[in-house]
Amino acid sequence: MAKDSTNDKLKKVKKIYSFWGKFPSFYSAQDIITFLGRAKTIRSRAVKKIGLKRGNKALEVACGSGRNFPYIIKTVGKEGFILGFDYSQEMLDAAKQLSKQNGWGNIKLIQGDAAQLKITKNNFDGVVSVLGISAIPDWEKALERCHDVLRFGGKLVVCDARLFTGFLKFLNPLIKVIYSKFAAWDPSKNIPEKMKESFGNVEVDNLNFGTFFIAVSVKKE
Ligand SMILES: C[S@@+](CC[C@H](N)C(=O)[O-])C[C@H]1O[C@@H](n2cnc3c(N)ncnc32)[C@H](O)[C@@H]1O
Repeated sequence: MAKDSTNDKLKKVKKIYSFWGKFPSFYSAQDIITFLGRAKTIRSRAVKKIGLKRGNKALEVACGSGRNFPYIIKTVGKEGFILGFDYSQEMLDAAKQLSKQNGWGNIKLIQGDAAQLKITKNNFDGVVSVLGISAIPDWEKALERCHDVLRFGGKLVVCDARLFTGFLKFLNPLIKVIYSKFAAWDPSKNIPEKMKESFGNVEVDNLNFGTFFIAVSVKKE
């Protein structure tokens, strides 16, 4: 059977996240299962690794409903700036609502395909994506766009999920079916390897019995 084209995959993303965006509290609740109860720790650790300072400009690719904004805001402060980019308008609507509730006036949200991201080059102090790259159909292009928009010395941090290795790997077929259907997740992508190819460097931390990783690349001159 022919593989789904990028357009078909984007349609799937749109459909799945239109649902989650309309029910953001369900989406937040599933964090407990996905992160095995360690969502706060892992999300905040990923954001810390960007090394942002007060007043910095950050881009979150596939920001979804804004689950990482509290951690980013903590580092860049009110004087900083966050651009949240996502394909799903419904997820962005939920992110907008969250920003409004918290009085975050320095967050701009843009809808689009991260593989086609066209914003000023060498512009951002840091870029982050949590559970985003694994859902983006044209993910290799999206990582290249992340490289383009970073300033020299800026970091790209990707935090994403992997299948179980070891004795729990019997659960993998079930996990694959569920997360592909309900999250457009594709665990076959070797994200750190592609980051190394685009940036020339990558450091990877494994967490949660190897089911999560945080990969960091620095943009060099
Ligand atoms: C699992 S959610 C992660 C959301 C958020 N980063 C988080 O930490 O909760 C995956 C997100 O990727 C977004 N996405 C998928 N394909 C995309 C694309 N081509 N461009 C931009 N965003 C995309 C979806 O709309 C969804 O919001």
